[in-house]
Amino acid sequence: MKIEIAKNAGFCFGVKRALALIEDNIKKIKKPIRMYGHLVHNEEVIKRLLAKGIKVIDTLEKIKRGTLIITAHGISPKVKEKLLKQKGLNLVDTTCPKVSLVQNLAELLHKQNKQVLIFGDVDHQEVKGIKGAADNQAIIFSSEKEFKKINLDQNKKYGLVVQTTKDFEEFKKLEKKIKERIKDIKIFNTICQATRQRQSEVRKLARKHDLLLIIGSRTSANTTRLYEISQSINPDTYFVRTGQELKERWFKNKKSIGITAGASTPDWIISEVVQKVQNIRN
Ligand code: F3S
Repeated sequence: MKIEIAKNAGFCFGVKRALALIEDNIKKIKKPIRMYGHLVHNEEVIKRLLAKGIKVIDTLEKIKRGTLIITAHGISPKVKEKLLKQKGLNLVDTTCPKVSLVQNLAELLHKQNKQVLIFGDVDHQEVKGIKGAADNQAIIFSSEKEFKKINLDQNKKYGLVVQTTKDFEEFKKLEKKIKERIKDIKIFNTICQATRQRQSEVRKLARKHDLLLIIGSRTSANTTRLYEISQSINPDTYFVRTGQELKERWFKNKKSIGITAGASTPDWIISEVVQKVQNIRN
């Protein structure tokens, strides 16, 4: 049984940067340390941060002192501005620069009096931040079906940005349909390079191997996307959070295995899963 691991499996640059900003400075950071939402959508990484004394909060009210960590997904610039003015509160902003870029574009399009459209998942923290950058005036849709339901005004100018972890191929197809329906639109395909690489690799692996393993959390948008892409090409695709979830029966009569992991999956989990697969093989 052959095993192939995707070249770019695991942490992307934005996640590495966010973790380094916290872990390299943990001793110097003013306590108590609170994190608004999860730094990255991976339970194992969060456990490691909680063990360092960091608390996860889901509301920004009542935060008056200590340190507040803004996660890699970013928050609305206006909310950030308000927090920065709060005396005695130290902000550690780990927003990925690629997400900041999308926020800047949304803000610019809004200032140019264009109706901002966001191709993204409405409940995702990144998308809420991008919407905030467009003064909460953006229209969000996450599929062609939802796009068709939008009431368009052809007298308006439109501008579109994309959540950094959306499916690149899906968006390419949708982009044509958007241009057919909207005459005056400026489109920025802001799916990040890390997402594109991981999606393109999983497509190749899914075609090449008998069985695919996608490692990561079900709460992670980018990992879920890898799973959906792989599953659509090769039904023998399994989503596992850790090696504990592997089942020996999956590997019966399989000659080759492809393995990849989301941008929020740590190396130590990938190694643990690979080790377990090797044990099953032997
Ligand atoms: Fe940033 Fe893309 Fe990673 S937006 S956090 S580099 S998946």
